[in-house]
Amino acid sequence: MVMLPCNYKMIMAKLSVNINKIATLRNARGGNVPNVLQAALDIERFGADGITVHPRPDERHIRFTDVWQLKQHLTTEFNIEGYPGTDFIKMVLDVKPHQVTLVPDAPDVLTSNAGWDTITHQTFLTETVCQLKEAGMRVSLFIDTNLTLIEAAKTTGTDRIELYTEAYASGFETQPVQAIAPYISAATMAQNMGLAINAGHDLNLQNLHYFAQQLPMLQEVSIGHALISDALYLGLDNVVKMYKHQLTKAIY
Ligand code: PXP
Repeated sequence: MVMLPCNYKMIMAKLSVNINKIATLRNARGGNVPNVLQAALDIERFGADGITVHPRPDERHIRFTDVWQLKQHLTTEFNIEGYPGTDFIKMVLDVKPHQVTLVPDAPDVLTSNAGWDTITHQTFLTETVCQLKEAGMRVSLFIDTNLTLIEAAKTTGTDRIELYTEAYASGFETQPVQAIAPYISAATMAQNMGLAINAGHDLNLQNLHYFAQQLPMLQEVSIGHALISDALYLGLDNVVKMYKHQLTKAIY
């Protein structure tokens, strides 16, 4: 039997499951299979800490009506991410999710592919963050590991940053130590400035545990593509538990 020290405790970053891919599958046939709301409720029941959606202006996966339905039924944290255009801002001010993650993606991109330039867009972001926080929502800014941009993120008044993990994920297989290094520097600096840290993009069952272990300050990850793909083979119930397990960190 393993003996644990008396001051041992397990802490876990939260797992928010991005359900866009479930909506993509539904939209392929025009009906309501799979049922996006039911899938979200099941994902909660299987142990996820939250649900993330990323509605885009063309509604090619999550529709604005999905967002309303989800808001009425979810019991865990609801995170809405997206580009803060007029319609998006109007929607989140109406829906009031727990967290809004602002992402600088143009309407036609396949998926988010960069973090904010928080210097160029400082005024816009400061005004938007202020508006959302005044309405009672927590705000997070999607961002690369550039320390200057993270410093500028702090001055927008945002509560959190979400580190864009594509570079980590692509470097992890061959050079994990080098791949994680900029994330440790960025997260440490952000934490020292009073920002909380989320992360997401291209995280999967292979690279998640190392990331969570190396960043003990990590609050939350949002994961979609790999988790839903794994569910094709392993089932949603299993994969939610497996991803949660990867997030376990032992603290002494
Ligand atoms: N975070 C943001 C801001 C995203 O745009 C996405 C993709 O929609 C994710 C996290 C999740 O990325 P993935 O689908 O690769 O897990």
